[in-house]
Amino acid sequence: MSQPAVTASRLTKRFGDLVAVDEIDFELEVGECFGFLGPNGAGKTTTVRMIHAVTPITAGDLVVLGLRVDREPAAIKRRLGVVPQEENLDPDLTPWENLLVFARYFDIPRVEARRRAAEFLEFVGLTPRAGSPLDELSGGMKRRLLIARALLNQPELLVLDEPTTGLDPQARHLVWQRLRTLKAQGVTQVLTTHYMEEAARLCDRVALMHAGRILRQGRPADLVRAEIGEDVIEIRGDEALHRAALALVDGRTLGREQTGDTLYLYCADGRALLPTLSGLRPPHLLHRPAGLEDLFLKVAGHSLQE
Ligand SMILES: Nc1ncnc2c1ncn2[C@@H]1O[C@H](COP(=O)(O)OP(=O)(O)OP(=O)(O)O)[C@@H](O)[C@H]1O
Ligand SMILES: [Mg+2]
Repeated sequence: MSQPAVTASRLTKRFGDLVAVDEIDFELEVGECFGFLGPNGAGKTTTVRMIHAVTPITAGDLVVLGLRVDREPAAIKRRLGVVPQEENLDPDLTPWENLLVFARYFDIPRVEARRRAAEFLEFVGLTPRAGSPLDELSGGMKRRLLIARALLNQPELLVLDEPTTGLDPQARHLVWQRLRTLKAQGVTQVLTTHYMEEAARLCDRVALMHAGRILRQGRPADLVRAEIGEDVIEIRGDEALHRAALALVDGRTLGREQTGDTLYLYCADGRALLPTLSGLRPPHLLHRPAGLEDLFLKVAGHSLQE
C-alpha cells in the first residue's frame, strides 16, 4: 500500500468561538476522488482550504502528500492544483495571460508554460476565448479557466471547491469528462459539491459534513443502500394523504422522511409496494431508485432538527 494522499486526524478549525471544523478524521487514497458534501456552512471549504495550506489548522494533524501542512505549506502548494470556490482570476488579463502569469509562480520555463497554457485552454474548451478580455467571459467560462489554471503545474492532487457551480449542463458534462480523464491519469482529486449527481458520478467516496463534523463517510452506493434502501416512493400531498399512505404501507418500508409537502418512503422493492398505494390516488406519486440526495436529506435534515 502506498501512503495516503491526505491524512487528517482530529482536524479542527476555529474562527474565534466558532468551530468551523470539529475534530474530523478522513484519509484520501492516491488516485481516488473524494467528495465533501453538506449544507451551506458545514465546513467543506474550510476543510479543503486547510488541505491546500491557505487556512492554518487550529488543532489535530493534517498530512498532505507526505508533508505536514503546518510545517511545509510551500512545498505542498507546489504539488497541488486548486479551483477555489470564489473566482480569483486577474481581471486585467486575458485567459492566456492569466495562465502565463500564474505559471511564473511555479517557475515553469516560458516555452513550456506556453505549451501547457495552450493544452489546458483546449482541454477546457476555451481556445477560442484565449485572447478575450476577462470581463467578456461568462461565469461558467471563468470556472473552466480556473480548472485550466489548476492544471498548469501538473498537480498530483487537485482540490476543487464546487468546480461546476454555475455551469450549464453541457459545460458540466465537459468538466466531469475532463476530471475523469485526469483521474485515469492518476491525479488524486478532492472536491466539494452541492450536486449529488456530480458526487455520485465522480466520487469513489464521500464524506457528508454538517456543522463541522463528518456524519457519514463511505462509497456513495454503499451509504445509500445502508441508509435508504433500493427504492424511494415520493408522495406529494397534505398531512391526511401522508397519514393514509403510511397506514397502507404499515411496516413494509425501511424508513420515511417528510420534507414540506412530500413524504418519502424508503423501501427494498418499491414496485411491490405500489399496488398497496394504488387506492390513494394522490395528486403526485413518484417511484424511483434511491440516491445520494435521499441520504443528504435524511442525514442533514435530522441534524438540522437536533
Ligand atoms: N474567515 C472566516 N472567518 C470566520 N468564520 C468563517 C471564516 N470562513 C468560514 N467561516 C465560518 O465557518 C463555517 C464553515 O464555513 P465554510 O465556508 O467552510 O462552509 P461550506 O461548507 O464551504 O459552505 P458553502 O456550502 O456555503 O460553501 C461557517 O459558519 C462560516 O461562517
Ligand atoms: Mg464552501
